[in-house]
Amino acid sequence: MGDRYALIGNPVAHSQSPRIHAEFARATSQPLEYGLIEAPLDGFAAAVEHFRAAGGKGLNVTLPFKQEAFALCRHVSERARVAQAVNTLVLETGSGDNTDGVGLARDLAQNLKVEFTTVLLLGAGGAAQGVVGALLEAGAERVVIANRTVSKASALAARFPGASACAYDALPGEAFDLVINATSAGLSDQAPPLPPGLLRSGMLAYDMVYGRETPFLAAAKRAGARTCDGLGMLVEQAAESFFLWRGVRPQTRPVLEKLRGA
Ligand code: ATR
Repeated sequence: MGDRYALIGNPVAHSQSPRIHAEFARATSQPLEYGLIEAPLDGFAAAVEHFRAAGGKGLNVTLPFKQEAFALCRHVSERARVAQAVNTLVLETGSGDNTDGVGLARDLAQNLKVEFTTVLLLGAGGAAQGVVGALLEAGAERVVIANRTVSKASALAARFPGASACAYDALPGEAFDLVINATSAGLSDQAPPLPPGLLRSGMLAYDMVYGRETPFLAAAKRAGARTCDGLGMLVEQAAESFFLWRGVRPQTRPVLEKLRGA
């Protein structure tokens, strides 16, 4: 039996993370196993402690616990501090990191080869928080953050020069190069309420949700936009987490191709 890792969140049942980490472990000959922990909404800290006390080495954290994970850490990396959200816990040291931003940036640059200067980011929760800094570093000149609860978008945008906040119904008519859905709306088969005409051809519409065509992606496709789900980001952020835990960087392309059935 190898070292134990897991994804903790709610829900987690349909996650591809165990399969991705099993592929990485096999390819790099690392002795580890990776499971799933569905923590009760009011039981995140207790579930983390239970796993740690039983010998667990590390956790990936997904919704809705990324901000709580940040608050729980003894030490956080610079990029987690900037995000104020943690998706990777190293339990031996009590430290937290955020690999979402670098995961998205690598998917956009290396897998999708997309260039962008203007970005519309939908959502202001843990998933959105993790990527604003990375989008600006990756070349975005302007990141507009739209959220149902506008105060959360304003608070997030205020932390980054180059970012601004907007209500959905006040979004500018300009064409964005890239529209990223970082809301959890797709999980309940809903879409953020975008003004008509915002999604159009010539842009990339990216949904961080993977494994299904969300209403956001379906609308973008109808509007003639290029579309992509979040599977590439998932694989890239997983590779970075794997590197933090094991000191070995797995190749991502073969795993992504396998998962996409190519
Ligand atoms: P995550 O870690 O995935 O970001 P989260 O912190 O629970 O999860 O945040 C969920 C995000 O999805 C929020 O931005 C939320 O908007 P509010 O802050 O206004 O609640 C957004 N969201 C969830 N369901 C939505 C829906 N049906 N339409 C629009 N936004 C939605």
